[in-house]
Amino acid sequence: MKLKVSPVVSIQGELRGPSDKSLTHRSYMFASIANEPSLVRFPLRGEDCESTLRCMGQLGLRHEWLSETEVRLMPPSEWSQPESDLDCGNSGTTMRLLSGLLASRPLSTRLIGDPSLSKRPMKRIAVPLRQMGADIEGDTPPLIIRGRSLHGIHFKSPVASAQVKSCCLLAGLRADSPTTVVEPSLSRDHTERMLRAMGAHLIRSGDEPVVDVADSMSLHRSHLKPSVTIHPTTKLHGFEFSVPSDISSAAFMMVAAALLPNSRLVLRDLSVNPTRTGIFDVFEQCRVPFELGELRDELGEPVADVVIGTNPNLQPFVIEGSLVPRLIDEIPVLAVLATQCEGTSVIRGASELRVKESDRIELVAKSLREMGAVVDTFEDGMAISGPTPLRAATVDACLDHRIAMSFAVAGLIADGETEILGADSIATSYPNFESDLMRLSIV
Ligand code: S3P
Repeated sequence: MKLKVSPVVSIQGELRGPSDKSLTHRSYMFASIANEPSLVRFPLRGEDCESTLRCMGQLGLRHEWLSETEVRLMPPSEWSQPESDLDCGNSGTTMRLLSGLLASRPLSTRLIGDPSLSKRPMKRIAVPLRQMGADIEGDTPPLIIRGRSLHGIHFKSPVASAQVKSCCLLAGLRADSPTTVVEPSLSRDHTERMLRAMGAHLIRSGDEPVVDVADSMSLHRSHLKPSVTIHPTTKLHGFEFSVPSDISSAAFMMVAAALLPNSRLVLRDLSVNPTRTGIFDVFEQCRVPFELGELRDELGEPVADVVIGTNPNLQPFVIEGSLVPRLIDEIPVLAVLATQCEGTSVIRGASELRVKESDRIELVAKSLREMGAVVDTFEDGMAISGPTPLRAATVDACLDHRIAMSFAVAGLIADGETEILGADSIATSYPNFESDLMRLSIV
């Protein structure tokens, strides 16, 4: 499917964007390991999360839609042996988190994915799972998992990946001793927050009170890498959860508003978990005005309404270090923003982008260049110099939903009609993208 985008004048209006993908995946998976039924309101009905719901159904989770936006999830007392492969579609989160849940269960399963997922690295989860004693075959999909009893481990992850961390923590729930995961910098912590709300015993670095600030150990602690320890338990409560809207999806409209003069975008129910709000750090650097409303809590997740404005003199930005995991999925659209900043913006320490739904460094750079932008690439990032007027072009999204939406945003400020090929992939995370964009656009 092709998406055609023409330039618009401004972005104006209110948006309750699509619900959070990471949280919807987790609510389906975690409801499957709870001791009681759960109720989820506003789950994301995108293809990735539907893959998770289907897989959990094959393993015994029953669900009942109470209305269009409300689903009751009833966990099985024992997980059942699926009769066919577990198809994770395009979703790395489904495959990696589910592997952690399956590793300890007395089942024999095969996890498969679409052509994009089939190329993505699974060794990052296979290595710690094997250390725990798991029987897992395949360093790329398909994965074959034969459930075994597991041991707790202390795992130093080489990547700041919430999928790797969550996989280990979920496997650790049923191990014979606690499991600790240390990350190079903190990745999104939804698993930790949600499992805690369900009654799991987790200790995170920073949780322990600092007794004496002059004590050398406590000074040392502040330099420690983020870590989390989970204690095994099978006693987990069911939950009621209203899934807030996804900052990674809202980011497309946020950047569109930041780029177009006289814009004002009001975002309702936005998930503003600090491990996900790196885009606001970038907006501060660019001097894009934004305002956060009052914070509320949804199952340990902070939620707020947010207003975004425009700055006609956008300043360049730097993304590196611990900021990277806090905005990893927003980098393609932030690269589009960089083309309009007055100077060179630099993204470093982001080699993870090479193993997402596509090689996002190469694909963003190639497509931006086709639109006339000035881009240099490095192994772990890119530099983009601006401001550069963008030319309309035909961009192939190569099965990557976030590339498709990023270049739709680029099309809003180009000099003619931009065509996005492979725009069907947008249904992965943002099924109403086109209609939301049309509604918010002032032409
Ligand atoms: C996700 C974690 C991130 C992110 C992905 C969703 C999650 O991946 O890119 O879209 O739900 O845990 P990594 O943790 O592998 O970086």
